[in-house]
Amino acid sequence: MLDELKAKNKLWSRTKTEVDPDFFRRLENQQSPEYLWIGCSDSRVPANEIVGLDPGELFVHRNVANLAPPQDANYLSVLQFAVDVMKVKHIMVVGHYGCGGVRAAVDGKRRGLVDHWLHPIRETYAAHRAELEGLDAEKDRWDRLCELNVIRQVQNVATDVFVQDAWTRGAPLSVHGWCYRLSNGLIQDLNVTVSNPAEVDAVLLA
Ligand code: CO
Repeated sequence: MLDELKAKNKLWSRTKTEVDPDFFRRLENQQSPEYLWIGCSDSRVPANEIVGLDPGELFVHRNVANLAPPQDANYLSVLQFAVDVMKVKHIMVVGHYGCGGVRAAVDGKRRGLVDHWLHPIRETYAAHRAELEGLDAEKDRWDRLCELNVIRQVQNVATDVFVQDAWTRGAPLSVHGWCYRLSNGLIQDLNVTVSNPAEVDAVLLA
């Protein structure tokens, strides 16, 4: 079963070791990534690959529609470990245009538990209804909602007490909002980067 995947794994391990004989020994002894990636579970958005980073360089949390809900123990555990223990310097919330989770949040169809998970996106839609419904093309509304969702999640991360406390301690830490385009593989920076509480007020809460 899954012999092709196992064969590919052997080839990958061999290739890595040929290029850098100490690669896995180094990784085994420590991981010290400078980045936390909060992205969508979508199989077309492979975090490390998109930004050209090796194993050990990117701490990754993925869920449907790249949410950072302030009551989600999974996300909060990852956030605290990344900020307090690994002391990452950058947190990127990375959405993607054409996100099925974002569309599912607002298409009115019933899918089950995921409809609850996606509830924050319906709130974001409601908060920006005038702007979104002012866009004629459905694709434009969908793309903009993908962006607005990222910005809202950046706000969640940046106002979280773990991040606020890190800033109080003087830790160098920035939170970024990006949107990845499936059609060309490029990341769009949404220019909502915040690196201290004053920037949160100016950029995200203004
Ligand atoms: Co998605």
